[in-house]
Amino acid sequence: MDEKDLQKRKVILSGIQPSGKLHIGNLAGAIRNWVELQDSYDCYFTVVDLHAITVRQEPADLRKTTYELAAMLIACGLDPDKCTIFIQSHVAEHSQLAWILNCFTPIGELSRMTQFKDKSQSHADNINAGLFTYPVLQAADILLYQADLVPVGNDQKQHLELTRNIAERFNNTYSQTFVVPEPYIPPVGARIMNLQEPTKKMSKSEENEKATIYIVDSDEQIRNKIKRSVTDSGNEVVFSDDKPGIANLMSLYSLATGRTFKEIEHEFQGKGYGEFKSAVADAVADYINPIRTRFDKIIKDKAYLEKVLKDGSEKAHRIAYKTLRKVYKKIGFVQF
Ligand code: TRP
Repeated sequence: MDEKDLQKRKVILSGIQPSGKLHIGNLAGAIRNWVELQDSYDCYFTVVDLHAITVRQEPADLRKTTYELAAMLIACGLDPDKCTIFIQSHVAEHSQLAWILNCFTPIGELSRMTQFKDKSQSHADNINAGLFTYPVLQAADILLYQADLVPVGNDQKQHLELTRNIAERFNNTYSQTFVVPEPYIPPVGARIMNLQEPTKKMSKSEENEKATIYIVDSDEQIRNKIKRSVTDSGNEVVFSDDKPGIANLMSLYSLATGRTFKEIEHEFQGKGYGEFKSAVADAVADYINPIRTRFDKIIKDKAYLEKVLKDGSEKAHRIAYKTLRKVYKKIGFVQF
């Protein structure tokens, strides 16, 4: 056994909501990093369908999106032999632990969550209790696996902080039970912006199709969207705050080719925006093409996908069950 096997690998958990189609911003900001992590950490990646129902979902759409997201994660390079991929609702312990953690979470702390405030505004007709306790379920996701690290974007930092508070509160009330997780800040994290309004992040909830590059877009669609993207005044390809459109295209080009901003500036010195856009369009189409091809294959092979998800949930359940039993015992529940 080599050193790496002897050393217990650190645990990483992250979740992604099955809502909307996956876009290149998700790939650049989250999934690409997950793929890097799977070789050195014990990774759990979950499609959080329980979280998704905090806003109303069409049943057929939810089922389809959940499958597609799982297939997409594999198409993007997550390898089921290296990491554990599962659907949250398949592992009952998530709901079970969430209930218990609810009893260790002051309402005041939940009221401060900015995501709750935002979502209560955008879904004013359905401010349900699940929306309010959403971060407690997220804490359960993380604490069940004794995760050391959680890769999260800025919008989720507050939820991770709450998770840490809950874990510490529980540990202090009883005895050491949960690992208190740390945020994982990825070494690379390109922020991909909206193609039509490059000061806004590319987002699943964007209504303007032209603003977003979906991983399922055809080469043609990708090229067209990039060619029609909003650029800035001037004509020089340089990375700068007052050129958000060009900066975004440079981020995309860098993602697709692995080149640095300096190298890109050099490559396009003396060339106009038109030539640059064409190059970005081709590079991004070529980058996404093999992912889409793999996705098409996986989504047609339902037997394979279901096997991956079944194996994933069984593995996840074994770990989650152990944690939950420990929690039951500490609380004083009669053993089952
Ligand atoms: N709330 C996260 C989001 O909206 C998704 C999520 C659910 C998650 N459970 C998690 C992220 C656990 C990290 C860890 O992006």
